[in-house]
Amino acid sequence: MAKVRTVHRCTECGGASARWQGRCPSCGEWNTLVEEIEEPRRAPSTLDLAAPDRPVPIADVDVAEWAARPTGLGELDRVLGGGLVPGSVTLVGGEPGIGKSTLLLQALGALAAAGARCLLVTAEESKQQVRLRAERLGLDAVDGLWLVSATLMPHVIAAIDQVKPDYLVVDSIQTVADPELGSAPGSVAQVRECAHEFVQIAKARGVAVLLVGHVTKEGTLAGPRVLEHVVDTVLSFEGERHHALRMVRAAKHRFGSTGELGLFEMGEAGLVGVPDAGGLFLADRRAGVAGSVVVPTMEGHRPLLVELQALVAGTAIPMPRRSAQGLDGGRLALLLAVLEERVELRAFAKADVYVSVVGGVRVTEPGADLAIGLALASAASGVPLPDELVACGEVGLGGELRQVAHMPRRLAEASRLGFTRALVPASAPDPPAGIAVTRVATLAEAVAATRLSPAVR
Ligand code: TYD
Ligand code: MG
Repeated sequence: MAKVRTVHRCTECGGASARWQGRCPSCGEWNTLVEEIEEPRRAPSTLDLAAPDRPVPIADVDVAEWAARPTGLGELDRVLGGGLVPGSVTLVGGEPGIGKSTLLLQALGALAAAGARCLLVTAEESKQQVRLRAERLGLDAVDGLWLVSATLMPHVIAAIDQVKPDYLVVDSIQTVADPELGSAPGSVAQVRECAHEFVQIAKARGVAVLLVGHVTKEGTLAGPRVLEHVVDTVLSFEGERHHALRMVRAAKHRFGSTGELGLFEMGEAGLVGVPDAGGLFLADRRAGVAGSVVVPTMEGHRPLLVELQALVAGTAIPMPRRSAQGLDGGRLALLLAVLEERVELRAFAKADVYVSVVGGVRVTEPGADLAIGLALASAASGVPLPDELVACGEVGLGGELRQVAHMPRRLAEASRLGFTRALVPASAPDPPAGIAVTRVATLAEAVAATRLSPAVR
């Protein structure tokens, strides 16, 4: 028998190292190396030996069969840019309990109801548990939705041979294993090899495959990061468990953009799409509070109004806290520096500063800069901004304001939700009807225009 060789493999990037180290030599993450049996290169399976492809003129390549097909869940289709592509593999990652199994069961239910053949491989829960969930979702009587409880690849493949599905869900990729490999189920090698096998199955049979992947904060299971290179699309399913709101984003998408956000609410009967999200995050907003500013952001093609809140609290400690929730800490540091140097607001050096985006959304676009700056100035001065005002623009290191894309769409949405005034960069195009703009060239002018600067007060 061949000697068993072991290797230390990173659960984040999949990189290998001959000996254990505290830090992965490939990706630099700490404490991610785990010992594994090294797999010898396997003889190619029958799947690998499918007929070789034949070169054809580019004009003759048939793209119709690779067109995305809607799943029937509008918010999921929005993120996917229309739907699922036959022959593709999509990884759906998210923390346990966030609703991955629910989302995919609902997608399969909708697809089956539209006449597709669907197979759900349940490798974690029993068929009974899935059936009970389906009852709750009103999907237990759908034709064309098949269930199999399997954790071994040969069993999964046998079920695929029997059902011949158009859509296949594997829940989860961490709990299926190939007995031909020596490594333990859930190990990096297993997860990666099984994912490879699903890619081949998808390509060879034209099945759209969806893999569920758990991400744990501790990283004890092989993280889906190692799968990202293998699959076509990576979706992340996020949300706070004590909030009903769930968000789907694409972290990677070979068939379209990654800029769209899908929004759902988890209710008694599963996930319900939230197509009109414009004012979703403003419901609990209190009027007349210093440090609160509303910014019209763009999430893909959809404008979304979010509230930013800042709190500035005096402190005696030499290194005051800077806390940014839902936005980049570096961006906050930059805006604090611009406020100090270009606006001459000196209130922050001896104060703890907290900025957060309300509602669990993440704001990553520079269009929020002006609103962050104003929220900080408002919090520092204790003067609230007018309730009917929104602010949008990018701030440069010189304190100058720059134009951002889609300003008319952002302002139209703000106007629709009842805002009547907007602070925008000087170069912004004319606003839509119903909203008046105040043009400002710098953050200092914006602060002065809103009477937040100590000099004006
Ligand atoms: P689940 O899809 O099992 O999460 P995951 O597969 O990501 O681990 O769903 C988890 C939670 O969703 C669970 O706490 C119960 C809740 N839930 C509802 O609130 N309503 C529903 O209709 C369903 C099916 C689940
Ligand atoms: Mg689950």
